[in-house]
Amino acid sequence: MKVHIHKDYTALSTFVAGEMNQLIKENPGAVICLASGDSPKLSCELFTQRVKEQKTDTSKFFFLGLDEWVGIGPDVPGSCHNDFKKRVFEPLALSPAQYHLFNGLATDLKRECEEMDKVIGEKGGIDLMIVGIGMNGHIGFNEPGTSFNNLSHVIELDEVTKSVGQKYFKEAVTLSKGITIGFRHLQETKKVFLLANGSRKAEVIKKTIEGPVTESFPASIMQRHTNGFVLVDEEAGALLNKR
Ligand code: F6R
Repeated sequence: MKVHIHKDYTALSTFVAGEMNQLIKENPGAVICLASGDSPKLSCELFTQRVKEQKTDTSKFFFLGLDEWVGIGPDVPGSCHNDFKKRVFEPLALSPAQYHLFNGLATDLKRECEEMDKVIGEKGGIDLMIVGIGMNGHIGFNEPGTSFNNLSHVIELDEVTKSVGQKYFKEAVTLSKGITIGFRHLQETKKVFLLANGSRKAEVIKKTIEGPVTESFPASIMQRHTNGFVLVDEEAGALLNKR
């Protein structure tokens, strides 16, 4: 694991957008897995902007959605699907054959998980995974206590996730379960970026990088990834020991 401290959120997002664009230029069929939420928002905006400016060919890359709220449909603003659609699919006019997401409304969620694992296998694994970190240290919906060996799975959401998650929705919603790509996939991903910005993330970033590697603090798994990068702005990195 390596740690990069960028001056601010814009510098951090500019770096990530550049890496995404470069990956697709070098490997047009690359598989990119992305979290929704606030952290990667500007990276996506700058990425799609750069793709257009540089006329990068995005017709072959494949997109995977990291997770979804169970019971929330793709048309609901605040669902991960809706975020991906607005941030990536529409700006790049991706064809539906170029992405695979969990359906939060599926009646057979086990099958949704099996299907995701199958797609990842068929695509030959994930080239780049871009994730955020929750206030309880989760990545995707791999909540505290989740096995590091899990493939895709459904999980009861932690109380912190249920309450923080309200920020994505215009009106209060009942959030109880999540469906997510698991840590076995993260560990097998060729390159992983964990993004965090703002002072409210400073404590969880310190634990991620300097705390023990433990399933009770999921993001600590980043320490095990030989090509894992924790990318923070100065505020999120403020509590780190001098490096
Ligand atoms: C969302 C996801 C979550 C978020 C995390 C941080 O798809 O996977 O794990 O990345 O909760 O959320 P933000 O970025 O909104 O602070």
